[in-house]
Amino acid sequence: MKLPFPTHLPARLLAAGFITGSLLASLPAAAGDAKAGQDVFKSECAECHAVAEGRNKKGPSLFGIVGRKSGSVAGYEYSDALKNIGWTWTPEQLHTYLSQPAKKANPGTKMKYDGLDNAKDLDDLLSYLATLH
Ligand code: HEC
Repeated sequence: MKLPFPTHLPARLLAAGFITGSLLASLPAAAGDAKAGQDVFKSECAECHAVAEGRNKKGPSLFGIVGRKSGSVAGYEYSDALKNIGWTWTPEQLHTYLSQPAKKANPGTKMKYDGLDNAKDLDDLLSYLATLH
C-alpha cells in the first residue's frame, strides 16, 4: 500500500509532539494538584461559591479569582471589610485569607468559613483556583 504522505512526516510529527510534551512538562509546576484541589473545592467552598463567570451564590463567583482585585465582582454585595481592603488575590494572598478568613480579613468579612488548615489541601485548592479562567 502506498502511504498518502511522505514517510518522514509521522516521525516529524512525533518529534514535534514529544518536544511540545517535554516543554509542557518542564514548565514550573504549581505546588499543588489541581485535580485533588477540585475535590477540596467541592467539599469546602462549593456550598457558597460557583466557578462559573458571573454566577454569585452566598459568596461571589470565583471565576478568574487568581489575579483579581478583592471585592470586584459586579452585582455582588460585599461586606465593607472586603470592599475596602484593596487586596489583589495573588496566590500568597489567597493562601493567607483561606487559611483564616475571619481573622485575616477582619473586621467584618461575611465569609463564614473557619479556614483550611491542611497545607496540602490548601496547595491543591490554590492550583485548582488558578485554572478558573
Ligand atoms: C459559608 C459560605 C462560604 C464558604 C464555605 C466559603 N466562602 Fe468564600 N466567601 C463567602 C462570602 C459570603 C464572601 C464575601 C465576603 C465579604 O464580602 O466579606 C466570600 C468571599 C471569598 C473571596 C473573596 C472574593 C472577592 O471577590 O474578593 C474568596 C477568594 C473566597 N471567598 C474563596 C473561598 C474559598 C476558596 C472557599 C473554600 C475553601 C470559600 N471561599 C468558602 C462565603 C463562603
